[in-house]
Amino acid sequence: MTSRLFEEKRGGIGKDFTNNLYKLFRTAQIHDSNNVATISAVEKTTESIKTLLNNGGPFSLRLYQEHLFIDDVKIRVDIENFLSCMSLINEMKKRFIGTITFSPHKTSDELSRFIYAFVSVGMKSAEPFQDLTHKLSSQGITGITVSRIEDKEEDAIHVIQDSKEMATHLYFKTLSVVSDIMDSAKLKNAVGIKKAKRLVHSMVDLMVKEESTLLGLTTLRAYDEYTYNHSVNVSILSIAIGQRLGYNRTELSDLGMATLFHDIGKIDLPIEVLNKPSEFTPEEWQIMRTHPINGVKTLLRLKGLQEQAIRMIMTSFEHHLNYDLSGYPKLASARRVSLFGRITTICDCYDALTSARVYNRTPFIPDKALSFMMKKSDTAFDSILLKIFVNVVGIYPVGTIVLLNTNELAVVIRANANPVNIHKPCIKLITDTNGNEVDGETIDLSWEPRISIVQSLDHRKYGIDVSKYFVANTS
Ligand SMILES: [Fe+2]
Ligand SMILES: [Fe+2]
Repeated sequence: MTSRLFEEKRGGIGKDFTNNLYKLFRTAQIHDSNNVATISAVEKTTESIKTLLNNGGPFSLRLYQEHLFIDDVKIRVDIENFLSCMSLINEMKKRFIGTITFSPHKTSDELSRFIYAFVSVGMKSAEPFQDLTHKLSSQGITGITVSRIEDKEEDAIHVIQDSKEMATHLYFKTLSVVSDIMDSAKLKNAVGIKKAKRLVHSMVDLMVKEESTLLGLTTLRAYDEYTYNHSVNVSILSIAIGQRLGYNRTELSDLGMATLFHDIGKIDLPIEVLNKPSEFTPEEWQIMRTHPINGVKTLLRLKGLQEQAIRMIMTSFEHHLNYDLSGYPKLASARRVSLFGRITTICDCYDALTSARVYNRTPFIPDKALSFMMKKSDTAFDSILLKIFVNVVGIYPVGTIVLLNTNELAVVIRANANPVNIHKPCIKLITDTNGNEVDGETIDLSWEPRISIVQSLDHRKYGIDVSKYFVANTS
């Protein structure tokens, strides 16, 4: 193989390596070294290390100017490894590591001990780099070594913003993949959903540590195509509920996929009906009510569904049935709506009510949407799941504009996880007491007894684009 080809191959293999290494890191954060998941992650990473060894010699994973390199070959970043690369860069920066060198003499056991040493110095250590090198030498780990980030790179360290950037990037990527898939399905082309699966996996990963950032992005309303925007929002909201229900990653991904395509049946609806700016006529309603079954037919044509297929098909079929079966399509005999179906009904309704581009042309502000939905507890919605949903989004959901007793305006940026403090979310001040726009401080109201919310306000009346507080400026 010519050296150029070899280098290109390494850039490609670097993708597997970064994905495996990041997965190993995540696994080691949760499980101990004897866990099956860890053992499998160590094996996979060892395999990718073997393919990268430079003619049997060592190779380095190098961080330079926000990019990762295998020796001097830049690792190509695309949606398949975007999250892994961004996260690895972040974790290396946190520990002031510029290079990790893998030698051929390293064993799987060393890799396992290395990753636990790496994880352990992540959060609490004041001197993470020194602590890590000390741990590596005291444990006799010589096959994997680290070197400190160069001074000029250290100057550029900014870790905190990255999670917001990651979430924003992921949101828009998912939006474009959903629109590609739905457009192809509309043209009756063969459609694969592998890309969407990978993105949903990344969304699940990010949800674990960045729930409020992802929930905040569901306030995005500016996208031209309502259905795509709505699909991604419903997927995010449902994953947040699934998390509260204790779902594991696989179940969360299944739920995220099922909800991402719950409205795929809308591809067969006439565009004039779909985008009609006023109330539907009875005939148009009849057309609209065909989309759950159209969805079933469309999903049956998709490639790569495997075991997820049934749950996706059920979700499309059930999401407008309602808990008490008062919705559509009408069933010949009564049956219980599946858990995925019941979760989707709630998230679907909330996103539709708070959006400007649906059958209800006057959108509800978030807390009013919740009050409206609470009236249908036990009829349209499963009351227990609805309570969990309220706990996820809070009485004042993320993105709500609130008036404070100090006369300042603020935007809710995070619900309070403690149900006792559900009226006291985390807010960011957006105006001063005279109504002048400010880039104000972030306040956790559960820590500030003197500040309280007087009422929620309609952001449109004040001309406020709420999503700007959640979308990272990635330009
Ligand atoms: Fe629908
Ligand atoms: Fe929907």
